[in-house]
Amino acid sequence: MSLPSQQRWVVFDKQTLENNVFYVQTLGVPARTLLDDPQVKQGEKLFSGANCAACHIAELRTGDDKVNAIANQTIHPYTDLLLHDMGTGLADNRPDFKASGTEWRTSALWGIGLTQTVLPYSGYLHDGRARTLEEAILWHGGEAESSKEEFRTMSKGDRAALVRFLNSL
Ligand code: HEC
Repeated sequence: MSLPSQQRWVVFDKQTLENNVFYVQTLGVPARTLLDDPQVKQGEKLFSGANCAACHIAELRTGDDKVNAIANQTIHPYTDLLLHDMGTGLADNRPDFKASGTEWRTSALWGIGLTQTVLPYSGYLHDGRARTLEEAILWHGGEAESSKEEFRTMSKGDRAALVRFLNSL
């Protein structure tokens, strides 16, 4: 990839910056799909059974906010927004603010089924190394080691159901 020869800066005035923040804050998430699909329902059970939901928490409640549309809302982001030690396989050994070199923040999984629709061939995890959702799960280690092992040792059908559930989000 070639870099532009001249870096171009865009200087925002305060109002433009606030408008941008407002726009991003109020962007909607895509609706879930395949809600009644039996394989997806099975996958959802397996997701809880393998303890994925311990970090990828399905339901959160937002707090007060001056923007009414996002205040006190029940949302389904599938993240706890917290840092976890994900083991040496995912470590970049570069501490970043409060995150040690092995810690990553739980990715939100809402909308994940559309990742490759929006951008074909895009990868998963912090550096895009995983080409598929299966690969992303199999890179989990550290605090998520036992969940990863549960997924790895599931029957082929159960793994497919779990991945289909992820694709419905
Ligand atoms: C201990 C907490 C924890 C558990 C348990 C856990 N995850 Fe994760 N998950 C994470 C973190 C942290 C990341 C981000 C890692 C990174 O970016 O390198 C992540 C990333 C992912 C991603 C990639 C998302 C993306 O947009 O790139 C998928 C898919 C995923 N997890 C699914 C699962 C599934 C399925 C399970 C259960 C088998 C599971 N996770 C269990 C913490 C967890």
